[in-house]
Amino acid sequence: MISNSIINTHSINSFSTMKEKGQKIVMVTAYDYAMARTAREGDVDIILVGDSLGMVVLGYENTLQVTMDDMVYHTQAVRRGANANFIIADMPYMSYHVSLQESKLNAARLITSAGANAVKLEGGNPARLDTIKAILDCEIPVCAHIGLTPQSINKFGGYKVQGKTQAEYDRLLEEAVKLEQAGAFMLVLEGIPEALGKAITAALSIPTIGIGAGRFCDGQVLVFHDMLGWSEILPKFVKSYAETGKVMTAALSAYAKDVREGTFPAREQVYYPID
Ligand code: KIV
Repeated sequence: MISNSIINTHSINSFSTMKEKGQKIVMVTAYDYAMARTAREGDVDIILVGDSLGMVVLGYENTLQVTMDDMVYHTQAVRRGANANFIIADMPYMSYHVSLQESKLNAARLITSAGANAVKLEGGNPARLDTIKAILDCEIPVCAHIGLTPQSINKFGGYKVQGKTQAEYDRLLEEAVKLEQAGAFMLVLEGIPEALGKAITAALSIPTIGIGAGRFCDGQVLVFHDMLGWSEILPKFVKSYAETGKVMTAALSAYAKDVREGTFPAREQVYYPID
């Protein structure tokens, strides 16, 4: 029997329809129950359990140390808060690089143990196309991700915008087309010039989701902590929609002051007060 909590309001088909109708797709990351509930209440279309959790939740310098166990644990929590929302879970570094068999088993774990609807993996080289086909062969939808792919920062020499030279532009455009041909249902474009985001979006029939890829993608994704003003450093492409970091710090300072001064708890927060 299918539980109500996993019947999705969206499917891979509805995202294609949204592209056809020119309706923008809204994606945000979330990493636990409370964030997923907030994202759901905020009416986003897709929740991405990104491996960015390594940086914004676990405090690592980059995403490379994130493990399959981390992704499963956080995706399970997100599923509990997301109810019917469509969830994409990131495949972490080295979970899809070693063999097709390992890639398939890891992708399946994110679906069967963690509750994701689809997986995302980075890169568009020929080996990646084979991996995508192998995962699709397990009936698992795959979202691809190219441009400034964070798992490649050591190869790139840092977080550098990709696709600025004509050769890189042509290569990324070609990779995007091949990823669609390989069967990816969606493509995240990160850290590329706006013109390239526009060209890839026009060339594909699958939806593109931009993060630092300009205004012409079929949808946008932001990291939860960045868009809510809860991150230490904000890249140029982020719009911060609330200063929640400052609000939370101010609330915690007020609480600390009240406890130290003996004004919390007050009479109204006490069971059976003695006065
Ligand atoms: O890990 C992540 O949050 C991502 C997005 C930035 C696209 O991959």
